[in-house]
Amino acid sequence: MPQSQAPSPASFAGWLDDTNDITRAFLAAGQIPGLINIAGGLPDPQVYPVDRLSEIAAQSIAEFPNETLGYGTIEGLPDLRAAVAQRYSTETLHLTPENVLITTSGMQALDLIGKVLLNEGDTMAGQFPTYLGALDAWRPRRPQFRNMNLQTNDVDLIGAMTGAKFAYIVPNFSNPTGRLVPEQTRRDLIDAARQTGAWLVEDDPYGGLSYDGPIPPSALELSAEQESSAPGPYQGPVIYLGTLSKMVAPGLRVGWVIAVPEMIAALVTAKQGSDLCTSGLTQRMTCKIFDAGLIEAMNPVMLRLYGERRNALLAAMDRHLTDFFDWQFPEGGMFVWAAAKDERLNTDELFKIGLEELVCVTPSSVFDSQEEFRRGIRLNFTINDADRLEEAVVRLARATERLLARIG
Ligand SMILES: Cc1ncc(COP(=O)(O)O)c(C=O)c1O
Repeated sequence: MPQSQAPSPASFAGWLDDTNDITRAFLAAGQIPGLINIAGGLPDPQVYPVDRLSEIAAQSIAEFPNETLGYGTIEGLPDLRAAVAQRYSTETLHLTPENVLITTSGMQALDLIGKVLLNEGDTMAGQFPTYLGALDAWRPRRPQFRNMNLQTNDVDLIGAMTGAKFAYIVPNFSNPTGRLVPEQTRRDLIDAARQTGAWLVEDDPYGGLSYDGPIPPSALELSAEQESSAPGPYQGPVIYLGTLSKMVAPGLRVGWVIAVPEMIAALVTAKQGSDLCTSGLTQRMTCKIFDAGLIEAMNPVMLRLYGERRNALLAAMDRHLTDFFDWQFPEGGMFVWAAAKDERLNTDELFKIGLEELVCVTPSSVFDSQEEFRRGIRLNFTINDADRLEEAVVRLARATERLLARIG
């Protein structure tokens, strides 16, 4: 009898060696009893409209049994593609269903973009620190990551995007920094995309979570101002990503890409080898969610709850963390981004001591492909109430004191 042999780690693909240990530890940390987790980016389950979604699910199956329970087309349910095109069209932005691909949420869109644009060694320009999931999606393609330094004055966007396949931005309350990209920078990014031939990937899960007033138009919309005004598919350089995850519920796993038809066609080819199609059930539910105005009905409830929690977290930070960290006030989204005042403080270490103190925060290394910036932390305010946020911050202050005492 031949001896059975476990496959050796040497048979794993090389990109796995490039992943960060902290990312793994951080994903495992959720299981520790008594831990207060302010690391994730999750909606509070109390906002899920459970009864309404149960009704919509039952109606979707009863009315469309084949479509909801069978395989569907790769590009998505025609009704949903049309609904997304209509929802985002404006006087200047003319979208047709050919401009829309339905995806198994935003993460799949990021993965597919990597598949269709990145050969090994290609460059992508990013707004570092940037979304961990995007780095995870693209790392297996083994790209070169380039920091656009969007937050600095006088940034040379043409220089930053020259030779890059695409630039990736989360312009509305970015994950992790909570920053809003100003309208002029959005316009400059579009001009740089046109001049350099790089695509501009605009990832927008948080645009609906603005607590303090209106936000600038999307790059997608701004880019259409310079396009032909004739009706017809959008032809600009922006690849826009939307998702239901933060606006309704992440478990539905429905998102969409809006781009030129040629890009949609390439993404469809990649999606065929990924999941064949997004769930027909949740796609049909999304059509009904749009028709019922559920997103618009839920939004004020989320804004009130999360806005109060943002204020509670910032107030707790003012009470306990001002000696140790600086931070900016986020006008929206789910996160506060803080930087340690002491340049020697490495937040990978703080993360570990934080777990001993039963608080989990996200260290900056996971958002930074070059791992240049090591003294940042991301704190989430959507999932815990004010009392737990206060306790989390007290624990974090204690962990920081311990680390500083160790550094000396
Ligand atoms: C910036 C950003 N993009 C994309 C996603 C992916 O979300 P989903 O796959 O749930 O749509 C997230 C989730 O946290 C995010 O923060």
